Amino acid sequence: MSKDVIIAADFAGREQTLRFLDKFQDEKPFLKIGMELYYAAGPQIVREIKSRGHKIFLDLKLHDIPNTVKKTMAVLSALDADIVNLHASGGCAMMKAALEGLLRPDGTRPLLIAVTQLTSTGDQMLRDELWIGHPMDETVLHYAKNARDSGLDGVVCSPLEAGKVHTVCGRDFLTVTPGVRFAGGAVGDQVRVTTPYGARQLGSDYIVMGRPITAAEDPVEAYRRAYAQFVKGECE
Ligand code: C5P
Repeated sequence: MSKDVIIAADFAGREQTLRFLDKFQDEKPFLKIGMELYYAAGPQIVREIKSRGHKIFLDLKLHDIPNTVKKTMAVLSALDADIVNLHASGGCAMMKAALEGLLRPDGTRPLLIAVTQLTSTGDQMLRDELWIGHPMDETVLHYAKNARDSGLDGVVCSPLEAGKVHTVCGRDFLTVTPGVRFAGGAVGDQVRVTTPYGARQLGSDYIVMGRPITAAEDPVEAYRRAYAQFVKGECE
């Protein structure tokens, strides 16, 4: 399993994103394009960044009826994204339909991962608003199992959940984990955080880091620091 650092390109538009990417002369980081950038800049931004040599996690979190998700996934697959995602709460039929839609004529497809429960959802909201009667950790693991049984490649989860997900769903089932901060760095709105080295120790396969890299004084240095800890296993 090859580990990698994914930078969350949470920028408002194309110019800002390309200005950021221009800083990287010696490496081509894996990028996450989320709803903000995708809806602002359109599908063309995916093609443009791909053509510059970056891998792309297209984080659009689909959730709709199976037929709609299948057809939409076919569109995203044609953009040549490397990882795409959806909400596991859409159910197993939707997840299986998504996989069918992703299959390209040459037999390849992007990796498909599922959001289990958003990290902005707390126990009280799960119970009182969503009316889910099971505790959060059990719900997350149940959704992860549904994703695995539907043939998906992995889930987005906290690094702190990565070990449990691997135990239940297998070592090859991918854990893609946000909520990563450098020791002593600003936590921002993330609640439960670990360092890149800590995420490695906990078994994450990919870490997603936004602001600790994008808002750093020297983003290239910050990226290299994360890469050294997470991919090379260098403890600071
Ligand atoms: O700036 P920061 O490192 O907090 O960025 C984390 C990225 O991961 C953001 O794009 C955020 O939307 C995303 N994310 C997250 N927690 C989840 C799912 C996605 O932080 N559960």
